[in-house]
Amino acid sequence: MRLLLLSLLASLSLVSAVPTTRDAEEYDYVVVGSGAGGGPLACRLARNGYKTLLIEAGGNPTGNVNVSVPGYQAVVTQDPTLRWDIFVNHYQDQNRAKRDPKYTYEVGPYQYHVGPNPPPGAKELGILYPRASGLGGCITHNALIWILPHKSDWNDIATLTGDNSWAATNMNQYLDRVNEWLPHAPTDPTILLRDLPLAQHLLGGASAIGVGPAPLDAIPQLANLLLQSPNNRLNPARDSAEGYFQIPLIQKFGSRVGVLEYITRTVEEGFPLTVQTDTFVTKITFDKSSEKPKANGVEFLQGEYLYRASPLHRPGYGRRGSVTAKKEVIISAGTFNTVQLLKLSGIGGKDELQRFDIPVVKDLPGVGTNMMDRYEIPVNVKHPKDFSILDGCTFDLKDHDKCLKQWQSNPYILGARGAYGTNGLAAAMAKRSDFATTSDIDLYVFGGPINFQGYFPYWGDFAVRDHQHFSWYTLKAHTKNHAGTVELRSKDPLDPPLINFNYFDTGTTAGGADKLDVSAIVQAIRMSRQALSDYNAYKILGGTEFVEENPGPEMQTDEQLETYIKDRAWGHHASCSCPIGPEDDPMAVLDSEFRVRGVDNLRVVDASIFPKIPGIFIQSAIFMASEKAADVIMAANKEESQ
Ligand SMILES: Cc1cc2nc3c(=O)[nH]c(=O)nc-3n(C[C@H](O)[C@H](O)[C@H](O)COP(=O)(O)OP(=O)(O)OC[C@H]3O[C@@H](n4cnc5c(N)ncnc54)[C@H](O)[C@@H]3O)c2cc1C
Ligand SMILES: *[C@@H]1O[C@H](CO)[C@@H](O)[C@H](O)[C@H]1NC(C)=O
Repeated sequence: MRLLLLSLLASLSLVSAVPTTRDAEEYDYVVVGSGAGGGPLACRLARNGYKTLLIEAGGNPTGNVNVSVPGYQAVVTQDPTLRWDIFVNHYQDQNRAKRDPKYTYEVGPYQYHVGPNPPPGAKELGILYPRASGLGGCITHNALIWILPHKSDWNDIATLTGDNSWAATNMNQYLDRVNEWLPHAPTDPTILLRDLPLAQHLLGGASAIGVGPAPLDAIPQLANLLLQSPNNRLNPARDSAEGYFQIPLIQKFGSRVGVLEYITRTVEEGFPLTVQTDTFVTKITFDKSSEKPKANGVEFLQGEYLYRASPLHRPGYGRRGSVTAKKEVIISAGTFNTVQLLKLSGIGGKDELQRFDIPVVKDLPGVGTNMMDRYEIPVNVKHPKDFSILDGCTFDLKDHDKCLKQWQSNPYILGARGAYGTNGLAAAMAKRSDFATTSDIDLYVFGGPINFQGYFPYWGDFAVRDHQHFSWYTLKAHTKNHAGTVELRSKDPLDPPLINFNYFDTGTTAGGADKLDVSAIVQAIRMSRQALSDYNAYKILGGTEFVEENPGPEMQTDEQLETYIKDRAWGHHASCSCPIGPEDDPMAVLDSEFRVRGVDNLRVVDASIFPKIPGIFIQSAIFMASEKAADVIMAANKEESQ
């Protein structure tokens, strides 16, 4: 009777003050967020017998074709059931920010205007930063690219903290664990090599990095080049190896496979993992009876699309609840949301917390500072003719989408699933720029038949609107800017936070850091142009001439290219906002065992933990850290119970 009444009350209550029962279940561990950080960790804890609750704000996208088709990697980021529209500032000066044609305004609820000349009354938003909310987090909508971190990424954490378990030699075992559940493989080259003009571009890339084959033997030689894995752990010089490489993807037989499938399998196989989707955590709760506050659970709201960043958000909805964790609470809500949740729970710089009337649980000024990202920039060209690989691809999941039919009805052999069996990006030039300060390569320049210019609402539709574009994309790794911040906009947990990246000269400038970053990217643009010029050496393949649209042929001097980069670069590997650091660093948020300093039973495991942005692509490093966290947490538990 009482239960019935309570649940009646609960279902009536919407967002009200009515307290519901503490969940009758007790879990050993409560993990908040099911992406790259939280998903693998929760699975590993459950697989070792610990009763684990995995809480995820978004829904369960199993069966959503947008997710499984690698060729939909751009389109899936627009899926309203999955996406959060988060807007960020690359520059705080809005006039400077508006030099980017991707600058976006709000003209109605979840209605946007992109670029100059907004209609009267339009509200300034900034630059779209795509995020997925759903089981598997951003792994469910990302570009699938699987590149392992560099040894220095791990060794630097070991040096910084004195904790040698972070040494690269020790971290290898965690990659082995990831490999137990994560399939990855490069694009089947036969999909691409049938489109000779596309192959001609890829040959241009090979030539620009110094391994271009003779034109008469070009296609078989290109196929050989695409056998080169960038992840070869047996090559001791791998981290500094320049050259031309295939791009491995998180996929099996031409379908995206990632964290979502691993979570599903862990539950199906009967391990004690409970997954609670459509549940937005609003606060971490603490037992404050002893001197050191002890995290003991979380409060949440239940309902679909509760965060205001979701385009399906409806106001005044959500049922309150809470749950306790017998052992620990682990926050894996991602670089922006982990910070927001910590601060709302009283962990952050005390000045900011007091400004919002949030009782301080632990004054930790580093929360939401030190944020890093990579810079990305394209050279886009347009041909008069379509790339034949994309014939019949409408990228819209509709009946006329012939490429979807082909993908659905064919086995994964000899490229039979066609263009949608790949993310469209097959090969990368890896280069150590003249401005790198270590021996690691710091430029990845990869090419594909797509017109991607960065993120703005419906960028996915734009990128594939015609089939005539080819682009080389530069990803600048080991960037030096760590001046990004995440701050509360309000005390309302459903309000996305204020995110400032403070790009280039408005960020870290010590030691000429901003100059080193931008100069390396200028070098990469010149290398991209070299690839486009070397394309002409393979005319025998019949590709048409093209026109460079971005940066555009008039942009030649270093100064012009620097301006192009500073105005238009973007990122999608936001990280480092709750950094691990040494005891004596007041800005370090976590100790080397992922523990939030100054409180008990609370850890953070996601992209925010890194002191410096790792590697070239980030998901592999987060997965490895997630597996390490599982080890550390289980070891601590064993110690305690002895
Ligand atoms: C468009 C795009 C393409 C990318 N491509 C690649 C790529 O090709 N290769 C690569 O290596 N990396 C790529 N990345 C980056 C990579 O996917 C992310 O860095 C990674 O997923 C981050 O992992 P995370 O665990 O920190 O957070 P996420 O994966 O974002 O997971 C966080 C989860 O927490 C949930 N959550 C947040 N707040 C709450 C709350 N209060 N309560 C409950 N749940 C909450 C969210 O819904 C989300 O599911 C890409 C990113 C984007 C956006
Ligand atoms: C897939 O994404 C598109 C947006 O790009 C959206 O219109 C469509 O509804 C999504 N499909 C599903 C099954 O969610």
